Amino acid sequence: MECVRVFTVLLVSCTLIQRTSQDTREKRDTSTLQPRIVTHDGHLVFETGTYRNITFKANEGGYIMLDGENIKTIAETVSAIVTGL
Ligand SMILES: *[C@@H]1O[C@H](CO)[C@@H](O)[C@H](O)[C@H]1NC(C)=O
Repeated sequence: MECVRVFTVLLVSCTLIQRTSQDTREKRDTSTLQPRIVTHDGHLVFETGTYRNITFKANEGGYIMLDGENIKTIAETVSAIVTGL
């Protein structure tokens, strides 16, 4: 009886481990639609997929900062300069 219980626990454990490893070992999608974060010679590159965007979205009260500057402020400043305001 104890042997059956041990076998059942072992079987369930193996099933769970197999399922987990299958979930984490999905084949890597090398489609050009997929975005990438790559390093090259110490540089970090965020790369879009073909016809795809990279979007940083700030919710209420949040900011997206770049070197201590609010990106939205930078964009508004550039836009004002370009439109001559
Ligand atoms: C991606 O960016 C382009 C250019 O601004 C825009 O026309 C398009 O709607 C964007 N797509 C998404 C899913 O945000």
